[in-house]
Amino acid sequence: MKSQDITILAIESSCDETAAAVLRGDITAKQPKFEVLSSVVKSQIALHAKMGGVVPEVAARAHVANILPVTQKALADAGLTLQDIDNFAVTSGPGLIASLIVGVEFTKGLAYACGKKMIPTNHMMGHLYSPFGLTESKVKSRKHALSAVEGSKVKFPMVSLVVSGGHTLLVVQKNEQHYKVIGSTVDDAAGEAFDKVARLLSLPYPGGPEISKLAEKGDPFAIQFPRPMMNSKNYDFSFSGLKTAVLYHIKSLSIKDLALNTKQNIARAFEDAVVDVLVTKTMRAVKEFGAKTVSLSGGVSANKALREQLIVNCKSSRVNCLIPPFRLCTDNAEMIAIAAYFKLRGGYKPVSYAKVKADSSWEI
Ligand code: KG4
Ligand code: ZN
Repeated sequence: MKSQDITILAIESSCDETAAAVLRGDITAKQPKFEVLSSVVKSQIALHAKMGGVVPEVAARAHVANILPVTQKALADAGLTLQDIDNFAVTSGPGLIASLIVGVEFTKGLAYACGKKMIPTNHMMGHLYSPFGLTESKVKSRKHALSAVEGSKVKFPMVSLVVSGGHTLLVVQKNEQHYKVIGSTVDDAAGEAFDKVARLLSLPYPGGPEISKLAEKGDPFAIQFPRPMMNSKNYDFSFSGLKTAVLYHIKSLSIKDLALNTKQNIARAFEDAVVDVLVTKTMRAVKEFGAKTVSLSGGVSANKALREQLIVNCKSSRVNCLIPPFRLCTDNAEMIAIAAYFKLRGGYKPVSYAKVKADSSWEI
């Protein structure tokens, strides 16, 4: 088959990062073949830290202010102009509706003005496909390419653990295109639990990295928290009870201000419990589905303890472990461009701007 190189501009604005990325790839190549030419992320962390969490209205306004300069920078870094773009990908769900609308309507405007088609892309599919952005890279044809993938060492079946602020998913992927969600959270997502426990400990937003920092200095034997649903027969997760256990523990201390070492021990015990549940269930799925690869993605995949424990378990089970670099863990548009590229490889036909709509609860 003749090679078919296409250039995708992807936009992401589902929560509190405004991001744009440019990818060029051959969608008909036997193995994935693409280069990420640029990726720009403008974080709103400083803006929301003051309020202790994301304020949707504030996030949407910041997206409005940031989306044009972020997109212009992504094009400039790639050495391209809008005329060079073949398809416009955008995160159209799930996420905060007002934030999604900014990205979706902005991208629709670009597609309309350029007379090009769009690839509405699921945010969680972006996380799920982000580990493909680090497979094999032999050739870097462009001087400034961020990464280049030619060929793929991913051996299927693959079990993917996708852990973000809004979702906790366990997915089995039969091949590049076919995946099935085998488990998800019945209440709080893993990242949400990190953020809520951080608030109980009066830590700044976002809580995940703060808990992680404290946990490194905590005593692993000081406190034990429950491991909810770790031994349940299904692949679902529950973290709300764990958060409540932390709350009761803090209340039982009956002191207003917790000493630093107490906070460190609580953070450590909480993180150990979350990591234990996530890794145990992932490895059980590996066994049941005969997986040859495990992948980890989503914001919580930036957690050092989780990364390390998964790597150790994969080594002892002799399965490959795909863990994205930090820049691909938290929200970015590179992963949306990668997911859109894989959609095209699977035969997806880009659609008119008129067909694209933000959908805050779009499930994969
Ligand atoms: O994927 P993401 O950037 O946004 C969503 O799609 O939700 O994930 C954000 C989540 C937040 O809950 C944040 O606290 C968590 O990822 N997170 C972490 C770490 N870094 C980010 N959780 C634990 N440890 C970390 N190092
Ligand atoms: Zn995300």
